[in-house]
Amino acid sequence: MNKLKVGLIGTGGIARSCHIPGFLSIPDECEIVWICDVSPEALDGARALVPGARSTHNYQDLLSDPEIGAVSVTTPNAFHKQPTIDALNAGKHVICEKPLAMNAVEAREMCLAARKAGKILMVALQMRFAGPALFMRQYIDAGHMGDVYYARAQALRRRGVPHWGVFIDKEKQGGGPLIDIGVHILDLTLHLMGHPKPVTASGATWDRLGKDPNIVNPWGDYDRTKFTVEDMAVGLIRFDNGSVVVLESSFMANIKDELFRTELFGTKSGALVKGWGENAIEIYSERDRQLFDMTPRNVPDVKSAHTAEIQAFVRAALNGDPSPIPGEHGLALNAIFDALYKSAATGQEQPVHASLT
Ligand SMILES: NC(=O)c1ccc[n+]([C@@H]2O[C@H](COP(=O)([O-])OP(=O)(O)OC[C@H]3O[C@@H](n4cnc5c(N)ncnc54)[C@H](O)[C@@H]3O)[C@@H](O)[C@H]2O)c1
Repeated sequence: MNKLKVGLIGTGGIARSCHIPGFLSIPDECEIVWICDVSPEALDGARALVPGARSTHNYQDLLSDPEIGAVSVTTPNAFHKQPTIDALNAGKHVICEKPLAMNAVEAREMCLAARKAGKILMVALQMRFAGPALFMRQYIDAGHMGDVYYARAQALRRRGVPHWGVFIDKEKQGGGPLIDIGVHILDLTLHLMGHPKPVTASGATWDRLGKDPNIVNPWGDYDRTKFTVEDMAVGLIRFDNGSVVVLESSFMANIKDELFRTELFGTKSGALVKGWGENAIEIYSERDRQLFDMTPRNVPDVKSAHTAEIQAFVRAALNGDPSPIPGEHGLALNAIFDALYKSAATGQEQPVHASLT
């Protein structure tokens, strides 16, 4: 089988810590042949990991190379759309970091470009490849949960503002914790609920802690005057099958513990699912009028969900399979965020426009 030749657009934190190791983990199936970043330092960092790759500051250089079959887009959110569409139009498969885009308008354009090109557009949402997600998908598919009609999804940090990159800049990021980490727990939740169609959303956001120079951020200091995103967002999302998700996400909040988990309420049982770690799943059920709490012992031991995600992308591209996480799922998430932000600004519940047209 021919190896998939890959180009990377953006060689910052996530590219170096996750995408590059993911591609390097299957050297018989793929090879990184181009790396691109506008920053010389970021390019140097990646060059140390893939010394054989050609490098450029202009991503058009790698798109014009006919050898390249796939592209990884790991630029900040405001720079996902154009490289992705250009890569698809150049006939390359694309894996694009989460959130797919700044908003649903951009995400829709990206999905339509993938359809037109007949190429894979995959959204990098690695939680689906982690052990707890794999276990729960099987458990739900076997019918043990019944209908999951409600979920409470939480991605809450007590003090965790990313001080590097553009994570506090609404213009380049599209939003704060909602779009940055809420996206992961909401995606995991919707994945486990079987992707019901979102219909309306009601949300609220705050930014007082994030802007306050007197509040400590142990991750590192940042310029409080440049903090233009929310520090916390909550939302209630309604779906066409009557189910509801309540979502909470924060970079800063006065809470005891950081939480990254979703709690699913099913007609046959309930489940508390953490993203990773030991005892990541608790299941609550009833049998013979007795109540049971269960902790599964055979949750798949996935060493790196990021690596599993990249491997799934490469194999789908090589085998001509559909996208492991289609752009349309990223579009639905962006459409929900659009509605939540608009609701927070207006104080009114908003429709969610997640369709492709
Ligand atoms: N899946 C995850 O768990 C996860 C974790 C962190 C970040 N991310 C996502 O990855 C993306 C990047 O985040 P990061 O933490 O790596 O940020 P980063 O700032 O470390 O890296 C982004 C890189 O993109 C480069 N860049 C910007 N515009 C460019 C362009 N036009 N062409 C080429 N390079 C360009 C920057 O110079 C920078 O080196 C974001 O969308 C973020 O949401 C995902």
